[in-house]
Amino acid sequence: MTTTLITGANKGLGFETARRLVEAGHTVYVGSRDAGRGRLAAERIGARWVLLDVTDDASVTAAAKSVEADGGLDVLINNAGIEGRTPEGGVIGAAEVTADEMRSTFETNVFGVVRVTHAFLPLLRRSQAPVVVNVSSGLASLTRVTAAGTPAHAYPGVAYPASKAAVNMLTVQYAKAFPGMRINAVEPGYTATDLNAHTGTQTVEEGAEIIVRMAQLGPDGPTGTYVDVEGPLPW
Ligand SMILES: NC(=O)c1ccc[n+]([C@@H]2O[C@H](COP(=O)([O-])OP(=O)(O)OC[C@H]3O[C@@H](n4cnc5c(N)ncnc54)[C@H](OP(=O)(O)O)[C@@H]3O)[C@@H](O)[C@H]2O)c1
Repeated sequence: MTTTLITGANKGLGFETARRLVEAGHTVYVGSRDAGRGRLAAERIGARWVLLDVTDDASVTAAAKSVEADGGLDVLINNAGIEGRTPEGGVIGAAEVTADEMRSTFETNVFGVVRVTHAFLPLLRRSQAPVVVNVSSGLASLTRVTAAGTPAHAYPGVAYPASKAAVNMLTVQYAKAFPGMRINAVEPGYTATDLNAHTGTQTVEEGAEIIVRMAQLGPDGPTGTYVDVEGPLPW
């Protein structure tokens, strides 16, 4: 039996991933920073739920203790993420971005990944087939963001792509440090969720596909990669 935790799984890509992995036979923990939203989401799909705010040390430590007491963890999906916007909903570009904006985006998207991974590492190390999936973005790719004439090049935001580039670096460094684990970064593609006020062009079913696939890797699967549904992406 494979036990899987997904952070930020009460909605969006995380919720769809949870639904699919329950269907595939995993025991799934829906991680949610809000008890009501987490419980409701888990009940809808026959999952467990755990209170988990990725920006809060005490919350993450308590979540790890509770999952450990229930038997441990095989698969960790670092999915919780934010993209800071202006009050009017605009992307925060280079002229407006501040250190505070960077800090709050990194607190969730980067430090959150480290906080959660660090807390659950002891559990993963006890698994027969440990897997970590870091939900990155196509905007993490320096190659893509500098390719003139592409949508990635046209995206003016600073904090979000910088945070996801950091997630890619975390992924390769963790993968080298823990060769017994499958640790990969994935780009779901531009998907209609609350993150982008549902402007994404894919459905959550399409977006979750690569997350679900990489969560089900066996011990011989790739590690330290950055992929979307079609294959490896340029860093
Ligand atoms: N949608 C896209 O086009 C796209 C493309 C590439 C990558 N991604 C990545 O995919 C991941 C999922 O995003 P999404 O599109 O599904 O967005 P979403 O619908 O806004 O879901 C984000 C989830 O993260 C949770 N979250 C935010 N801050 C948290 C915190 N401090 N602790 C715990 N949970 C927290 C949210 O919880 P609340 O409900 O409590 O806010 C929500 O469950 C993100 O990492 C995002 O960067 C998305």
